[in-house]
Amino acid sequence: MSILSLQSVRYAYRSQYQLVEAVKGISCEFEQGTMYAIVGKSGSGKSTLLSLIAGLDVPDEGDVLFRGVPTRTLNLDAYRRNNIAMIYQNFRLFPLLTVLENVMYPMELHGIRPRDAKKRAAEYVRSVDLPDAVLNRFPAMLSGGERQRVAIARALAMETNLILTDEPTGNLDSTTSRNIIALLGRLVHERGYCIVVVTHDMGVLDMMDVTFQMRDGVLIEDQG
Ligand SMILES: Nc1ncnc2c1ncn2[C@@H]1O[C@H](COP(=O)(O)OP(=O)(O)OP(=O)(O)O)[C@@H](O)[C@H]1O
Ligand SMILES: [Mg+2]
Repeated sequence: MSILSLQSVRYAYRSQYQLVEAVKGISCEFEQGTMYAIVGKSGSGKSTLLSLIAGLDVPDEGDVLFRGVPTRTLNLDAYRRNNIAMIYQNFRLFPLLTVLENVMYPMELHGIRPRDAKKRAAEYVRSVDLPDAVLNRFPAMLSGGERQRVAIARALAMETNLILTDEPTGNLDSTTSRNIIALLGRLVHERGYCIVVVTHDMGVLDMMDVTFQMRDGVLIEDQG
């Protein structure tokens, strides 16, 4: 069974005067052990699609199925907490926590003992090519690219099967971008994760297993 299955998913943003149809009938499957890219113009609906997969909202029509179960029937907080690691377009680090504390925080919410969380946090920070010297700094004392890698480490440290990332390499130079995507690819293939990467970074598409194009709310598989 696919880890994720989308069936005729539609979603619109509604305000008093406007209706923006952001996702217009998407059906597709996502498998474990596979790294997916979603590319497409600004405003084409990529972040909206990720938020539906992440259970931040449910579709207006159609269903997002996680291991066969529609997200609209689940407690979305528990679904997100137990299954999803998300790296947001703007990182969302906690400014008053150090790098180490930022990476430890979601693990502690899961009841992992502080000593174990600390060890695992430090390992994942190293895995994204950051030196130990950053562990005790606050996010404001890091460059944009360093902050981004902390956000990636924080998501990976959760060791969930489904990792969703919005522009994970947007602030990184091409060598660092490729290193990060290579790391994600290794985790996908070794541990059977499913990773969905929204990206404008054409320099990493050759490392993806499957690339989808988002065009005006519709998803098309790119045959390369
Ligand atoms: N909160 C919102 N309220 C109303 N419309 C929205 C909202 N968020 C997004 N939209 C609209 O929905 C459409 C899809 O937006 P979305 O953020 O999913 O695009 P995107 O592909 O992620 O773009 P980008 O590459 O710029 O991040 C756009 O037309 C956008 O203006
Ligand atoms: Mg977006």
